[in-house]
Amino acid sequence: MNYNEAYAKLEQCGQLHILKYYHELTQEQQNALLTEIEETDFSVLKLAEKQSIPKRGMISPIPAMPLSEIEKQRQRFEAAGIKALQEGKAAAVLLAGGMGTRLGSDKPKGMYNIGITKELYIFERMIANLMETVRTAGTKLHLFIMTSDKNHTQTTEFFAEKQYFGYDRNYIHFFKQEMAPASDYNGLALMEEKWKIATSPNGNGGWFKSMAGSGMLDIIKMHGIEYLNVFAVDNVLQRIADPVFLGAVIEQNYACGSKVIRKVSPEEKVGVMCLENNHPSIVEYYELTEEMRYEKTTDGDLAYNFGVILNYLFRVDQLESLLRNTLPYHVAEKKIPYIDQNGNSVVPKETNGYKYELFILDMISMLDTCLPFEVVREKEFAPIKNKTGVDSVESAQKLLQQNGIEL
Ligand code: UTP
Repeated sequence: MNYNEAYAKLEQCGQLHILKYYHELTQEQQNALLTEIEETDFSVLKLAEKQSIPKRGMISPIPAMPLSEIEKQRQRFEAAGIKALQEGKAAAVLLAGGMGTRLGSDKPKGMYNIGITKELYIFERMIANLMETVRTAGTKLHLFIMTSDKNHTQTTEFFAEKQYFGYDRNYIHFFKQEMAPASDYNGLALMEEKWKIATSPNGNGGWFKSMAGSGMLDIIKMHGIEYLNVFAVDNVLQRIADPVFLGAVIEQNYACGSKVIRKVSPEEKVGVMCLENNHPSIVEYYELTEEMRYEKTTDGDLAYNFGVILNYLFRVDQLESLLRNTLPYHVAEKKIPYIDQNGNSVVPKETNGYKYELFILDMISMLDTCLPFEVVREKEFAPIKNKTGVDSVESAQKLLQQNGIEL
């Protein structure tokens, strides 16, 4: 894209200020900026005006498959899951494109050392968890790792340095997620440098489109992979490509599955599975009305009792059909470093604009069926969001030790 083309594109979307410093940049910086303007979709910034919170439909409870039911059918599910793994039909997708701001480390979250007497990295735990499935099924499986522009080099170099924690390098595929521009409250793109638009990873909902856009779908097709188990980087206890979960979704022909945990209290701040206009969906804790929060089923259980842990199983053919739809962007107020009117770098102390993100949970509501599959909380849920307190390095360390993992 040349200067005139960039000018025309920006003029059309009201973002001409991006070229303010163009004529004082070096040739290299000018080229970098023009490429970024060409690649960036600015249409998302229109959402600033509406401060868009996607509208919710009619919410009602969804039945989950409880532990008792899973236990009764465990052998059958496990056999079906192992068969699919042995036929090479399932792969895993690690979402590691996030910024991990709450943890406050300047490195990718997966590089965080959670060991006490020895080094033990979050990525290392992910690989160890995956290896359990490899051992159970007696077969290797492909692992796709999503990074972002912000952490790709560090992540890939770290894995190489650690020799992929013993995992077969030929089965690991890195891909970068797409980025979205960040803006001030009026929807004007912020600049990180005079030659660089402030961007951030476009949210965990962008994973499949980013996979398709970076050629990963070809690998999926080439190997005949039909199911993808997508999981977050921060739950260090989760089972990955769990054959029982896989088998349950396959056997009953669900479009997708979601591992869920029973809430500890009605007030727990976790998104829960529900039906929305009769489609499976997830409602955030703050979206539940007071009445819904305490609503009971005829059995006396909470009606909205099953929290999601960001461990989903998707069918590839269903995901491909989702590529035709657009997911809604969510707008979040954040502190975004920027270049001010006078060209000075500012690191704001207060929130100063919006970031735009896609959420994986919106993919669920676009599918016809989803199996909420209960797992034992103490055995499969140890998220690391913060350094201390709730969902922290400390709480995860305790849970790992309780499960006999040496730290
Ligand atoms: P979180 O919502 O906890 O975000 O991500 P985060 O970036 O890790 O942490 P905070 O909110 O800045 O503290 C849940 C999962 O989704 C991934 C994360 O890497 C994590 O595995 N994710 C999130 C992405 O891969 N890309 C994104 O753009 C956002």
